[in-house]
Amino acid sequence: MKCVCDRSDIFLLIKEMLAYILCTALAVLPILIYFRNPYFLKDLYCTFISIYVGIRLSRIEKRFYSILDRFLDKVAEHPHKKFIVYEESSYTYSQADRESNKVARALLTHAHLKQGDTVALFLGNEPWFVWMWLALSKLGCTASFLNVNIRSKSLLHCFSCCEAKVLIAGADLQGAIEEVLPTLKQQGILVFILREHCHVDGIESLSDKIQMESDEPLSRQLRASINIKSPAVYIYTSGTTGLPKAAVLKHKRVWRGSFLLTFAGVRSDDVIYINLPLYHSAAFLMGLCGTIERGTTVVLRSKFSASNFWNDCRKYNVTVIQYIGEVMRYLCNTPKRDNDKDHKVRLAVGNGIREDTWVEFLERFGNICIRECYGATEGNVGFINYGGKVGAVGREHFLYKMACKYALIRFDTEKEEPVRDSRGFCVEVPRGETGLLVAKIGKRTPFSGYAKDKQQTDKKKLRDVFEKGDMYFNSGDLLKIDDEGFLFFQDRIGDTFRSVKHNK
Ligand SMILES: *[C@@H]1O[C@H](CO)[C@@H](O)[C@H](O)[C@H]1NC(C)=O
Repeated sequence: MKCVCDRSDIFLLIKEMLAYILCTALAVLPILIYFRNPYFLKDLYCTFISIYVGIRLSRIEKRFYSILDRFLDKVAEHPHKKFIVYEESSYTYSQADRESNKVARALLTHAHLKQGDTVALFLGNEPWFVWMWLALSKLGCTASFLNVNIRSKSLLHCFSCCEAKVLIAGADLQGAIEEVLPTLKQQGILVFILREHCHVDGIESLSDKIQMESDEPLSRQLRASINIKSPAVYIYTSGTTGLPKAAVLKHKRVWRGSFLLTFAGVRSDDVIYINLPLYHSAAFLMGLCGTIERGTTVVLRSKFSASNFWNDCRKYNVTVIQYIGEVMRYLCNTPKRDNDKDHKVRLAVGNGIREDTWVEFLERFGNICIRECYGATEGNVGFINYGGKVGAVGREHFLYKMACKYALIRFDTEKEEPVRDSRGFCVEVPRGETGLLVAKIGKRTPFSGYAKDKQQTDKKKLRDVFEKGDMYFNSGDLLKIDDEGFLFFQDRIGDTFRSVKHNK
């Protein structure tokens, strides 16, 4: 019996020691992890978001759920929350819903639209842009977003890319429409302008017609045939060479873009400032669709203005700003003011900020978290620098690597083509070296190409990259990955390089 007593003493001692070791390990572990990977917590956060987004995406695919459905759910969830703030007006989710119902009804009556039709929108940043797009989605139609700065030949080219039968223009763009009206008339295009009256033969006023309509919801039957593979919108990319191309964005691509704000850490109580053009993918996908996905509020501005930027942020309690490199540069170039740090902006999401501007921006405007992103409108690959390392356009994450097979391959800048080995395959560059970013085209990472432009679409496809018969999206961008897994943009070769075929 004595032994038992002794043994329990030993047990106690062992238990105590174990507890001690455990405590020490728990205390030291974070330090060890930190030294091995200072981005551990951010990686963990990204892991959670990736899983969340992955589940959402697979559900969306199983039972088709569009960004419009998300919008309608948000309307039901918080009808009186502010959705769009524009100049001195603001519109709640419910008001936006009802406005777009009226637009949809007017288009149904006067343009006889049916699901699958494409309508070109020639509109700048104003609430009408949002109502129009929502209305077209409610009718199962695809919106094609024309750049408001294009004119004459270029305008006609872009318009014809998407095979639209209807064109809707903003009130201030009548002159540009009149320039091309004879051709539009010849092609039998229905042209509307967002005005109450229009006396030009061939242009119909639309605002008066919208006002006459009821704001009752529209039947879902109107868009019953639309699915995840249907084109959601056409967005024009300003190619380095030649005329703009209409990138086909299917619903899944729209969803992917809209999740960027989630990855950046945007919450539903944030207020997002959009001053970039909505007809480009940055403001439309990440900004507007991201807002709907998160159920936040947008402060919309017709144009970027460096002198009004911070005043707007203060006036509207903006917490998230969206940028491109130039925006940040212009902001840093404005004269210094005492109240430079007096604002509620906590997050900036965008792309193209230079390293020196990044540092200067933080010094001057305070502790704002910058989330730099990388991606192309038509691309099937994208990154976000959720780690916050200055200068990087993204950070690798193992889950993303599993979902999207991308690689940096050796590129011969003299010959302007990827380097092939003796078997005719491309060669991945070692870490730290610059290579051409390519991403496998597959079911999960499709490339939808450009509308009515097989030649340009084919040009973006690289074949037989790592094995016979495979196919990759050629980003046209040279990138580098550092030892910590951050991606750095190096150079743009665009679509200037010659044939991507090889004869082996
Ligand atoms: C901004 O926030 C302040 C203080 O929280 C509040 O008093 C003000 O009404 C807000 N302004 C807007 C436009 O929401």
